[in-house]
Amino acid sequence: MASRTFTLVVASALLRALAVAQQAPTPDAIQSLPTYTCTVAGGCVEQSTNVVFAWPYHWMHTVEGYDSCTTSSGLNATLCGTAEDCFNNCEIAPGDYTGLGITTSGNALTMYQYRNVSGTINNASPNVMLLDPAGENYVNVQLLGREFSFDVDISLLPCGENGALFLSEMDFTGGRNEYNPAGASYGFGGCDAQCGVSPYFNGTVNTEGLGACCHEMDIWEANSMATVFTPHPCSVDGIYGCKGDECGSSGVCNKPGCGWNSYQQGNTSFYGPGLIVDTTKTFTVTTQFITDDGTTTGKLTEIRRYYTQNDVLYPNPVSTSYNGLNYIDEDFGCSDTDSFGGLTVHGEALGRGMVLIFSVWQDSSQFMHWLDSDTAGPCSSTEGDPANIKANNPDAAITYSNIKWGELGSTSNAPGPDSGSSSSSSTPTATTTTSSTAPPPATTTTSSTTSRTTSPPATTTTLASAPKQTQWGQCGGNGWTGPHVCASPYTCVYSNPWYSQCLSS
Ligand SMILES: *[C@@H]1O[C@H](CO)[C@@H](O)[C@H](O)[C@H]1NC(C)=O
Ligand SMILES: *[C@@H]1O[C@H](CO)[C@@H](O)[C@H](O)[C@H]1NC(C)=O
Ligand SMILES: *[C@@H]1O[C@H](CO)[C@@H](O)[C@H](O)[C@H]1NC(C)=O
Ligand SMILES: *[C@@H]1O[C@H](CO)[C@@H](O)[C@H](O)[C@H]1NC(C)=O
Repeated sequence: MASRTFTLVVASALLRALAVAQQAPTPDAIQSLPTYTCTVAGGCVEQSTNVVFAWPYHWMHTVEGYDSCTTSSGLNATLCGTAEDCFNNCEIAPGDYTGLGITTSGNALTMYQYRNVSGTINNASPNVMLLDPAGENYVNVQLLGREFSFDVDISLLPCGENGALFLSEMDFTGGRNEYNPAGASYGFGGCDAQCGVSPYFNGTVNTEGLGACCHEMDIWEANSMATVFTPHPCSVDGIYGCKGDECGSSGVCNKPGCGWNSYQQGNTSFYGPGLIVDTTKTFTVTTQFITDDGTTTGKLTEIRRYYTQNDVLYPNPVSTSYNGLNYIDEDFGCSDTDSFGGLTVHGEALGRGMVLIFSVWQDSSQFMHWLDSDTAGPCSSTEGDPANIKANNPDAAITYSNIKWGELGSTSNAPGPDSGSSSSSSTPTATTTTSSTAPPPATTTTSSTTSRTTSPPATTTTLASAPKQTQWGQCGGNGWTGPHVCASPYTCVYSNPWYSQCLSS
């Protein structure tokens, strides 16, 4: 489910706010967010990556003055009737990153639903993408046959909010071209499986009204009450401009996708405040993309999930409806035989590499029921109303940190290759979750030249060493003060609140 979510009203309000707050020309005020790539043998290496706001969060104004080049319905047709006119008439201004709802500190990114500006609570709903150390292109994150981990503090994200960390198969330059030299450096080129139409398609003024479709892997869509991970395969490679029926639900992308939500899969006591994965405290989320032959070029056969909290590893709980399995495979819903192509083509996109995107958003039409209410979670039918959230949780926020990816077993204490973790098997029954449709993207903008130099050297980080427990030994549980980490190759596996044990999983 797509998460590109500012509304027209919000974006234009932001743009008005920025219009008085910005004068500086390019480059954009991107924020540092170091991330790590990891191998089992070498540990994790820090890379000096950055985050950039999606383009609609920037003010686009006339080159000669400060008239907005956007209107409440998109680009100003007089100024931006063609890509060339837009380039000649308009320029894009750097974003006010804090005002727009993010802060970074070390390797942590905090995203706020609202910002309190002198007593006025503004809706920020930020959406940022991972940019390379030069601040020029998006980072190519390749996850086929690999794993991805991050720490998350979701304690301040209530019912109705969606803190999302996902991948889209965008162009890594953001569709940079002669009339949009900024490209990725100003957050252009967005696409996802909802195939939304926006004023720019792949960095070019969207005079043809194309929808921007591409593979989307929602690694994380969650609040403190519910969580889901969802592949959305498409039958097209890279960013694809759909028209007419191709943009619809029987077009080129699997819009609902096949999402795994542990509450919906029958375990209502696993994830939430005070539960097994206690969302009042920070925990680590690991997602593995397993191939049939264990390589990074094989066929994607399983998407597995682990949680780690207080050094205890919790495999994704088994489903009561999906035959005791605890992972997504082809039979879970994204079948290779449907018209979108299933896990296999999605795996090919994960192998080519995708762009990492973070957002926090809310849902004024359905209050995010598909994520956290009815069969999906414990939230009531009205708690997710944005008006309610604004009144009761103006501090709604999510913090991501320690973002890592690499070989299986290299980013966390989840099991490495050759060691599936899961459960029994039997005849699978497919299920598909339904998500809402994405709100339309917003207004604005054009280009400017941006060139950024700065590429601090990579540094190697060694993961902290701690006392290690041997096979079968206790590694966690209420009152346990001994080691919480198991000697390789064993993994600390939760068995009950009083006991966790080092096992070969
Ligand atoms: C579009 O821009 C032109 C030229 O600056 C301006 O006269 C016109 O009012 C703008 N239209 C809208 C709808 O803002
Ligand atoms: C917003 O900030 C003002 C100070 O500028 C403060 O008095 C007010 O309590 C804040 N409102 C909320 C809801 O945090
Ligand atoms: C997107 O933009 C890039 C860079 O300009 C270009 O190479 C690519 O062909 C474009 N793709 C589509 C589908 O327009
Ligand atoms: C939920 O999952 C946990 C961890 O896998 C397990 O210990 C617990 O028994 C499950 N609860 C139910 C109701 O299935």
